[in-house]
Amino acid sequence: TEIGTIRNFSIIAHIDHGKSTLADRLIQATGGLTEREMEAQVLDNMEIERERGITIKAQTVRLDYTASDGKPYVLNLMDTPGHVDFAYEVSRSLAACEGALLVVDAAQGVEAQTLANVYQSIEHDHEIVPVINKIDLPAADVDKVRQEIEDIVGLPADDAILTSAKTGLGINEVLEAIVTRIPPPKGDRDAPLKAMLVDSWYDPYLGVVILIRVIDGAVRKGQQVKFMQAGTTHLIDRVGVFRPKIEQLAELGPGEIGFITAQIKDIGETRVGDTITDAKRPAAQALPGFKEVQPVVFCGLFPTDANDFEKLRDSLAKLRLNDASFSFEMETSAALGFGFRCGFLGLLHLEIIQERLTREYDLDLITTAPSVVYEVHLSKGRDASSIGSARTIGTDAAGLSIVEIHNPADWPDPNQIVEVEEPWIEATIYVPDEHLGPILKLCQDRRGIQKNLTYVAGRAQVVYELPLNEVVFDFYDRLKSISRGYASFDYHQIGHRPGDLVKMNILVNGEAVDALSMIVHRGAAEARGRQLCERLKDLIPRHLFKIPIQAAIGGKVIARETIAALRKDVTAKCYGGDITRKKKLLEKQKEGKKRMREYGSVSIPQEAFIAALRMG
Ligand code: GTP
Repeated sequence: TEIGTIRNFSIIAHIDHGKSTLADRLIQATGGLTEREMEAQVLDNMEIERERGITIKAQTVRLDYTASDGKPYVLNLMDTPGHVDFAYEVSRSLAACEGALLVVDAAQGVEAQTLANVYQSIEHDHEIVPVINKIDLPAADVDKVRQEIEDIVGLPADDAILTSAKTGLGINEVLEAIVTRIPPPKGDRDAPLKAMLVDSWYDPYLGVVILIRVIDGAVRKGQQVKFMQAGTTHLIDRVGVFRPKIEQLAELGPGEIGFITAQIKDIGETRVGDTITDAKRPAAQALPGFKEVQPVVFCGLFPTDANDFEKLRDSLAKLRLNDASFSFEMETSAALGFGFRCGFLGLLHLEIIQERLTREYDLDLITTAPSVVYEVHLSKGRDASSIGSARTIGTDAAGLSIVEIHNPADWPDPNQIVEVEEPWIEATIYVPDEHLGPILKLCQDRRGIQKNLTYVAGRAQVVYELPLNEVVFDFYDRLKSISRGYASFDYHQIGHRPGDLVKMNILVNGEAVDALSMIVHRGAAEARGRQLCERLKDLIPRHLFKIPIQAAIGGKVIARETIAALRKDVTAKCYGGDITRKKKLLEKQKEGKKRMREYGSVSIPQEAFIAALRMG
């Protein structure tokens, strides 16, 4: 394809402003799909994505369009993942485009959350075409939205395109604007091949499919290519595009977006942002901006029914086929049995995987409290070798080993710890004014540092620096409930900072319950410990003796509850008389006992731990 006829663009829109409908219209108008095929929305193809209104995997569609100048053009519509946990993937998708459509609902106007995406797009030097959609609605106020686009986004809006993706109005104007306003890509056909790995996924028939943007040179079937970051070589066996149906091509040239396959089985070999070059005539330098994605939030996943362990392992392996950004390894817990320690890009990523396991794989799971990754400076002479799954990442200025720890079970003895550093984020919260007060208090309570407070599009926009550790602990839920669902949240990591972090154990009758241990800030430990103890008090059945429930840091108890002893006459009453009732009760007990865990002669039903964790 002649590079001057290519246009690569993405669509920026707030949820529900009509991104998918518009994309489908563009596909339909250029002949990619019939009306019937369009009924099933093409771009977000996973059920969960549609229900949650987010797109997890980037997809691209190639459209053939003959413009009003009579010439044929190739338009590549790049769909980008919509959530903050996938910020790096989004940045690579944007780096593969030269422009974007900014879709704004004519009745809703500019939403503050959209701004973060617009700014990203601007940072990539994109030409942005404003599109005011849903002008068929009676409540549409085009002039007001135009003004908002100028005032709030800072883009000229005289030439905003007016559309109704629903009726098809304005779709041709959008196509013309893509051709006339978005610049063609630049690239050198004669230079050595340089292509960016934008995304990849596993297809049961094709193996790993890799979405690429060719920068220089061309990629062909039969070519030996090198992945510069991964350091691997592969033979390309297919080259093609999605229209959205798959179509194989002889080659992809500079500026083009399409896919390749190369008999790759493991998605872990394909890293987003990697540079693909010719093995025999390699490019001198890899593309800038590559980042190794690392899980930042960890938790234990255990099957409620121990018999489901194998099924959980198989399901995790299947999910991992299509998502190399989460990790899992086996873990055993005295309280919860066999399970897996899993790592995710963020809390939403965790929720998505958890939900898919529950829904698609029909598993009933227990999740332990999410943990972040701590960098622990160990005392002289210590390193990771003595600590479970910890990993040495280097030495500090004083020559002490720094290890990464994400599992409370691996937390070293306090006298072996010199310093702990925890990850921080910069969070931007958008919220209607009337809910601002409680949000500020929430951030303050979570050790937040306020950096900025402004008003954008009639909403408050607050920027806070927060320890990630405080955010993984029910922050989203609190944020949503105190703002009645109106607050939204965007974040990125800003590195590690020293923090006074300790391991808190929960002891039942003097014995620590592994599944309930957590790393907390010393200042928050007492409140959280008390909460857990109170909860457990209601969940653990009474015994014939008093049972202390304690929260402790090292040997120091910081919170305590006591379960009173069962009075003898109560049991007598319960078991006296009716013999069949007695039998039934005994049978129930037997069943229950199988799932009991013993803690210092206290039998605790597994359900109690599950309930304690679920209330998290
Ligand atoms: P997510 O996929 O949730 O991010 O939303 P989206 O931005 O892709 O919006 P989508 O295309 O799913 O549209 C949201 C709703 O608005 C759907 O019910 C559409 O039918 C409707 N819609 C889209 N465009 C128009 C339009 O031009 N006019 C009217 N009246 N409704 C529209």
